[in-house]
Amino acid sequence: MEQTYLMIKPDGVQRGLIGRIVSRLEDKGFKLVAAKLITVTDEQAKKHYAEHAGKDFFPNLVTFITSGPVFAMVWEGDDVVALSRLLIGKTRVGEALPGTIRGDFASHTPLNLIHGSDSPESAEREIFNFFAADELAKYNKDIAAWL
Ligand code: PPS
Repeated sequence: MEQTYLMIKPDGVQRGLIGRIVSRLEDKGFKLVAAKLITVTDEQAKKHYAEHAGKDFFPNLVTFITSGPVFAMVWEGDDVVALSRLLIGKTRVGEALPGTIRGDFASHTPLNLIHGSDSPESAEREIFNFFAADELAKYNKDIAAWL
């Protein structure tokens, strides 16, 4: 089953949106396999955003993501990488449609509340930048049994 790394950024934590964002992901039917409130280190931030090193916004990106606690999560589901990004909405808040997390809750780029991996390959790299393998829960979530 596909997994993705989702991270509620410092603005989402500060605004008290963890519960509502997690609810949306649960409502969609994804399976939560790991979650923790952490402060991202400078090293983790630079590794996480390595593809953007050298861009003019890179220093801001690292400063922002290390500025306060984030809620790091691993979610599982069919096509969860692409589907969770649809639920999250576009990076720039002016393009994020109503009904998406960013479209409904974010009003200022780059305070766009949540990060989502952009491919299964990125997801694997990102998950293990923040979690040890034994932090990922293994359990059955049989949607058909209770829907
Ligand atoms: S690019 O160049 O189009 O690939 O970059 P983009 O997809 O727009 O943005 C990549 C991530 O950088 C964040 N971003 C910023 N963060 C803080 N400050 C500034 N100025 C800034 N500009 C872009 C953007 O939200 C993306 O973060 P993630 O976590 O991947 O959504």
